[in-house]
Amino acid sequence: MMRMKIKYVDPRIENGMIDKVNQALLEGRFGPGENVRKLESEWMAYCSTKYAYACNSGTSALMTALYALRIGYIGGGSLKDEVVVPAFTFIATPNSVVMCGAKPVFADITVSDFNIDVEDVRRKITVNTKAVIPVHFAGLMADMGPLIDLCEDKDIPIIEDACQAHGAEWIDDNNKSHRAGSLGRVNVFSLQESKNMNCGGEGGLITIPNDDDVAERCRCFIDQGQDSHYHHTIFGVNFRLGEVFGVIARGSLEQLDKNNAKRRKNAEYYSMNLDEKKYILPKEAHNRRSVWHLYIIRVRDQSKRSEVIKKLTDAGIEFGIHYDPANHLQPCYSQSDFGRNVNLPVTEKLGKDVLSIPVHHHLKKEELEYITEVLNSV
Ligand SMILES: Cc1ncc(COP(=O)(O)O)c(C=O)c1O
Repeated sequence: MMRMKIKYVDPRIENGMIDKVNQALLEGRFGPGENVRKLESEWMAYCSTKYAYACNSGTSALMTALYALRIGYIGGGSLKDEVVVPAFTFIATPNSVVMCGAKPVFADITVSDFNIDVEDVRRKITVNTKAVIPVHFAGLMADMGPLIDLCEDKDIPIIEDACQAHGAEWIDDNNKSHRAGSLGRVNVFSLQESKNMNCGGEGGLITIPNDDDVAERCRCFIDQGQDSHYHHTIFGVNFRLGEVFGVIARGSLEQLDKNNAKRRKNAEYYSMNLDEKKYILPKEAHNRRSVWHLYIIRVRDQSKRSEVIKKLTDAGIEFGIHYDPANHLQPCYSQSDFGRNVNLPVTEKLGKDVLSIPVHHHLKKEELEYITEVLNSV
C-alpha cells in the first residue's frame, strides 16, 4: 500500500468565485451588500422559510435566536431560564445559552442516530424551560415528529441547530419532506470551513419560518439593534457578515446539492466496504435523508480505538472524534452547576468508541479505497 496524505476537511474556492471575490474587493464592497442580501433570499427559498438572515458565525446565529426569543437575562428573560440541549454537540450550542444568561440543561441522545432523546427531553423539562435545541448531528436531522408534538404540547419553542445539516431532510407521516431549518421557531446554520456549505471564513445563517416579530428582532440584533439607520429599537451587537463571505457562500450554495450527493456516494462506499465485524456503521433513519456532514464509525471493541487511531495516523489519514469528552464533562461545565452531577449514559458511552473518517466531496475513489483498506486491516 502506497502511503497517501488525506485531509479530513478540505475546503476549496470553486466555481469562478475568485473573480467575484476580486470584483467585490476592487469595488471596495466590504460590508454586507448585494451578495449578502441575495444569499439571504436564496437561503430562504432553499429552506422554504419566510425569512433568512446572514451573520458572522453559527455561534452568533444561536445567540441571535435565543435573544430574539427573549430567552436568558440578556434577551429580557431571566437567569433562571433553561434551554434543553444535547451534550453530544460542538460546545457552541450550550455556550450560546450561557452567553445569553440562561442555563443549558443537558439531555441524552439515542444510540441509533446520536440525536437528542425526546424521552429524556421530556424528563428535563421544568417550569423554567424556555426552548429546546435539537442538534441535527453529523448531517442527520433529529426525528422531529415526536419532538414537535412534545414542544407544542408544552408550548416551548424549538431552535434547530442545523450547523451540520445544510440540505438535510426529515419526512413526516404524510410523506412530506422538510428541510433542516424549516421547522423550529428560529433555526441556525454555520458557514465555517468544515461545513457542507461554507463562506471562505466564519459565517452563519438564521432562518425563521413565519414569525414576523422574532424575525425583526433577529434582523435588528445582528446590526446593533437598529431597525433603520442609527435608530436603535433593541439592544444589539455587530454580528454582520462581510460581503466577500456572502460571495463565497452563494457559490457554495450553488454547489451544495451536488456536493451533498458526492458525500452520499462516499458514505455508501464505506457502508458497503468497511468491515462490520470491527465497526458499527452509521445508518440513515427511514424518515430522514442525511447530508453526511460526518461519517462516524464506532469501534466495536472500544479498547482498540487508540490502535485504530495509530493506524490512521501512520497511514497519513486525518480523522476527528465527535465528541469525547462530551460538553457536560468539559471542565467549564463539569466544574459548574451546569454540568456537575449530570449523567448521560448514552452520550458518555458513545464518546468512547466514535471515530469520524473523511467523507468530504473532494475524496477520490482511490482515497476511499485506501482509507477502507487501512481501517479493515486493524
Ligand atoms: C452543532 C454545531 N453548533 C454550532 C456550531 C458553531 O458554529 P460556528 O463555528 O460557525 O460558530 C457548530 C460548528 O462547528 C456546530 O457543529
